[in-house]
Amino acid sequence: MPLTSKPLSRDTWPAFARLVEKHNGIFGGCWCISFHLEPGEKRHGAAAYRAMKEELVKEGRAHAALVFDGPDAVGWCQFGSAAELPNIRSKKAYEREAGTPPDWRVTCFFIDRERRGEGIASFALREALREIERLGGGTVEAYPEEYGGKVSSSFLCSGTLGMFEKAGFKKARKIAMHRWVMARRLRNKREAPGRGSVARRRPRAP
Ligand SMILES: CC(C)(COP(=O)(O)OP(=O)(O)OC[C@H]1O[C@@H](n2cnc3c(N)ncnc32)[C@H](O)[C@@H]1OP(=O)(O)O)[C@@H](O)C(=O)NCCC(=O)NCCS
Repeated sequence: MPLTSKPLSRDTWPAFARLVEKHNGIFGGCWCISFHLEPGEKRHGAAAYRAMKEELVKEGRAHAALVFDGPDAVGWCQFGSAAELPNIRSKKAYEREAGTPPDWRVTCFFIDRERRGEGIASFALREALREIERLGGGTVEAYPEEYGGKVSSSFLCSGTLGMFEKAGFKKARKIAMHRWVMARRLRNKREAPGRGSVARRRPRAP
């Protein structure tokens, strides 16, 4: 069955939750919440993270391209505004040279452990970028890893340098031994009924 993609939303939350539950909450209960927390924010545990994530999704403050094979979600690519996703890795090094925050960040991937190596993360990234264009486009940053060989897949939750190069991102600067800031600009493909494209709007701050 061909892969499809839908935005993470109130409607797709049950499929997302089934995928996370299949993997014991991800890292024992992260529920894809860690990038939403302020650095140093108190850790709460799996049940609280699940509730926090569901609330953010229902409020439209947690975004992802959720990849489906038939009715089952098989992976996602998380994205959001800098305000929605403040907790990037290597943040101190990042902030030493940070300028204007990007309009969007791509922070995290997760693919069903039975479906890795099929190109699903690369597909999820393409779909996330299409969704960002539909939401108004603008500057997009990512913070992928470069190891130059096979490594544990849990090191690659922010994606690989190669994935982002293939998606048109350019290296901006290195912020850790294996971690880069990469960036590109996306067009605004926001459509208003009967009016065609409208002026680009920045993502809503929480
Ligand atoms: C890393 C991960 C997203 C890759 O997903 P995937 O669908 O297997 O990736 P793809 O098949 O689209 O491959 C994308 C690229 O990553 C590379 N890649 C994938 N797994 C790799 C590994 N273990 N080591 C090195 N490179 C790897 C592929 O070779 C490919 O490179 P290319 O574009 O140069 O060909 C997946 O293994 C995963 O979900 N890991 C767990 C991440 C995690 O713990 N997330 C928790 C949230 S913080």
